Amino acid sequence: MGWLLYLFCVHYNLHPMHMRNLTFCCCLAIVGLLQACQNKVKPSQPHDAAHDPHSFSQPWLARTTHLDLSLKADFAQKQLTGAARWQIEYTGQASEIIFDTDQLDIKSVSLGPDNRPARWYLAERDSLLGAALHVALEHGAKVVTITYSTRPDAAALGWMEPAMTAGKQQPFLFTQGQAILTRTWIPCQDTPGNRITYTAQIETPPGMMAVMSAENPQHKDANGRYAFRMEQPIAPYLIALAIGDIAFRAVGPRTGIYAEPAMLDKAAWEFADMEKMLVAAEALYGSYRWGRYDLIVLPTGFPFGGMENPRLTFATPTVITGDRSLVALVAHELAHSWSGNLVTNATWNDFWLNEGFTVYIERRIMQALYGAEYAAMPAQLEYAELKATLKELGRDHSDTRLKLDLKDRNPDIASSNIAYVKGAAFLEMLEKLSDRKRWDTFLKSWFDTHAFQARSTEDFLAFLKQHYLQRYQLKANVDEWVYGTGLPANSPAPYSSRLEKAAQAAAGITQALPDTTGWSSHEWVYFVQHLPDGIPNALMQKLDDAYGLSSSGNAEIRCAWYVRAIEQGYVSNILPQVEAFLTGVGRRRFLRPVYGALIQYGHAAEARRIFDKAKAGYHAVSRNSIEAMLRSAAN
Ligand code: BES
Ligand code: ZN
Repeated sequence: MGWLLYLFCVHYNLHPMHMRNLTFCCCLAIVGLLQACQNKVKPSQPHDAAHDPHSFSQPWLARTTHLDLSLKADFAQKQLTGAARWQIEYTGQASEIIFDTDQLDIKSVSLGPDNRPARWYLAERDSLLGAALHVALEHGAKVVTITYSTRPDAAALGWMEPAMTAGKQQPFLFTQGQAILTRTWIPCQDTPGNRITYTAQIETPPGMMAVMSAENPQHKDANGRYAFRMEQPIAPYLIALAIGDIAFRAVGPRTGIYAEPAMLDKAAWEFADMEKMLVAAEALYGSYRWGRYDLIVLPTGFPFGGMENPRLTFATPTVITGDRSLVALVAHELAHSWSGNLVTNATWNDFWLNEGFTVYIERRIMQALYGAEYAAMPAQLEYAELKATLKELGRDHSDTRLKLDLKDRNPDIASSNIAYVKGAAFLEMLEKLSDRKRWDTFLKSWFDTHAFQARSTEDFLAFLKQHYLQRYQLKANVDEWVYGTGLPANSPAPYSSRLEKAAQAAAGITQALPDTTGWSSHEWVYFVQHLPDGIPNALMQKLDDAYGLSSSGNAEIRCAWYVRAIEQGYVSNILPQVEAFLTGVGRRRFLRPVYGALIQYGHAAEARRIFDKAKAGYHAVSRNSIEAMLRSAAN
């Protein structure tokens, strides 16, 4: 029996020296043997092609299917407390079910409708993946209830003080699950390969509203009690919650905005085209499967531009510019309703299936609404950023592949523009092999055939070969695109004549400043980026005074300007504005380049000083990234 037990422990990755585990292993082994003989429920299988290197759960043996979440939010303690009640399915081989957790305080685990105490233990914490929660399956239990509370520094949770909100009166909470952070606020099988439906009961302090990636309220409840339902099965990284002084305004029959009251008018104006975008996307890739499409504007501490939480996109307030110049973000997050939320990457190694497809669809929506000439501008800016990334990483770096190998690494690495922009270029190249009509029909059938499923890169390539390349007798260097590094020679390059004019104006810059009437923010960004080296400080000052670059209401312009100014040595005049920007904005896309330029051009001490002041307002995602940059600068 001893060696059997040992083998069992090794197989289940348990530490055989641990006495508590040993006894537990013994019980599991016996239960497992008994159940193997019974061979009972046959679950509808999660994606089985690839083992997810970022989850301890083994959903092909025992999987979660539905969650009933009930949580109370305590802003003083920065804590969520309550229970996750999971419905589960498993094969006869399963003797336990495994959940991912990270820094949760688990109070109890019980089985069945009558909550009989379960046997469970938390495995040793892995610094990247957290601690696996093992629960023994007994008596054919179909329900597991875990009572728990979160820690104040849970990485998914953005607890914002009133001072960090638009209204300055009430605090705010938002969650961010992608990629592997849901486990820091809900014990779950945190892999995109397994889907679940959910309901939730959320209790907030009085006067606040809670919203989720689910059917949402449109008014506050006097007692702060809210009930939610998400009927379509989703991956756990898409479970999301926001609580604050939130109000709602419809912008179309199926679309609307949630925001703090102070932001609501501006946000509703900025995103007036949401309904049109939804209609355009449906015309391309088939009906929208999620009911409503709403968007919530979060406080500045939100670390991303947008997050595609189903039915309710989470967005940074930095896209509210007053000129609708950054609405591509809405097109992007909406596009995820097909690529990502409907058909989901099987593991984070297949991240380009989410983001590359989404950038491609985002551009198609932008073309449909605003024309090809306008849509080419952000596309060319992104292409330039991709080229810069390739140069920085090196064209033969393995992370420049579409299919990634993120084992033992934080999937955050995948969020470079390789998956996004190289991925979109790959799809555009494929489109151009034939024609748009055939390509769109093919893409629509990809979504229809795999709706509400997870799919790997290899699944896509097989489908592509059969239903597009062979069907229309097309040839393409598919493997070079997906498994090769760098950018293949047949990459289509976006071209915008408007951007080229702005670049020419920058190249020929003199004291007689160019005429910039009618420029979009994209032209401004390109202009600033193309200002030649060695511009005297006096001319930089003149540009700033004439065009108000340092104080622009558009964070993309400010970010590009600060970076170029720091590179040019035009620092002392703008440092207070740089500091205000870095303390007022939490979006990592803006923080990284500005801190990066400060560090690279000899102002690391300033960067550190500003960071120490600003970091309390940053979400863990941004804070960790900048901290890592400052650390490597110090070494
Ligand atoms: N899903 C991403 C955000 C994300 C990626 C969060 C990886 C965590 C890990 C979202 O759809 C996105 O791509 N957001 C972009 C904006 C978009 C317009 C390119 C962002 O936040 O910058
Ligand atoms: Zn995206």
